[in-house]
Amino acid sequence: MDPLLLRVQADPAAALGPQTRRHPRRASDLRGIFQDAGALEALIRDGNPVIYETFEAPVPASEGHLMFGMTVLYPGRVGDEYFMTKGHYHERRLTAEVYLGIRGRGCLVVQTEDGRSRMLPMEPGGVVYVAPGWAHRSVNTGAEPFIFFFTFPADAGHDYAAVARSGFDLLVVHRTGAPAVVERSR
Ligand code: F6R
Ligand code: ZN
Repeated sequence: MDPLLLRVQADPAAALGPQTRRHPRRASDLRGIFQDAGALEALIRDGNPVIYETFEAPVPASEGHLMFGMTVLYPGRVGDEYFMTKGHYHERRLTAEVYLGIRGRGCLVVQTEDGRSRMLPMEPGGVVYVAPGWAHRSVNTGAEPFIFFFTFPADAGHDYAAVARSGFDLLVVHRTGAPAVVERSR
C-alpha cells in the first residue's frame, strides 16, 4: 500500500479518511464484563446505546504493518462502574501497543496472566506504553467522550476469551462523587 498522511483530531472518522473501518460496541455486546448484570440489562432494554466505537485506518492486518486508529469511549456508568472496553490480550502475546490520549479523561487497566495489575491514568497528551504480555482495557472516568489514538503490530490478533475467563482484578468505580480503583472481590 501507499504511505498515508492523516491528522490526529477529535473526529476520528474525519481524521482517518473515507476508508476508515468503524466498529461500534453496544451495551448488548458487553454482557459479562460489568459486575452489575441487572444494570446492564436495564441499559440494553433502554435503547441499547453504543458504549464505544473503534475507528481503524485501512491498513492490512499482516506482518510488517502497524494498525492504528482511535477509540471513542462514551461517558456513563453501569451500576457504579464507568463505561469501559471489553479488554483483551493480544493473541500474539509478545506484541506491544501505544495509546495516546486525545480528548477527555480516563485510564487504562492492565494485567498480566501471572496476576500483576495496574491502573494508568490518561488525559490529552498522555502516552501509555502497553508492554508485551499485558491485557488492557480502557475506562472513561469523565463526563465527555474519552478519545485516544492507538497503534500496535497489525498481525497481533485479539484474545478476548482469556479476559472473559479471568476478568480484570481492578475495577474503576464511582465512589462518593469521584473515580476510585478497587480490587474485585472473588
Ligand atoms: C487494539 C486496542 C484498541 C482496542 C479498542 C477497543 O489492540 O487495544 O484499539 O481494541 O480500544 O477495545 P476492545 O478491543 O477491548 O473492545
Ligand atoms: Zn490491544
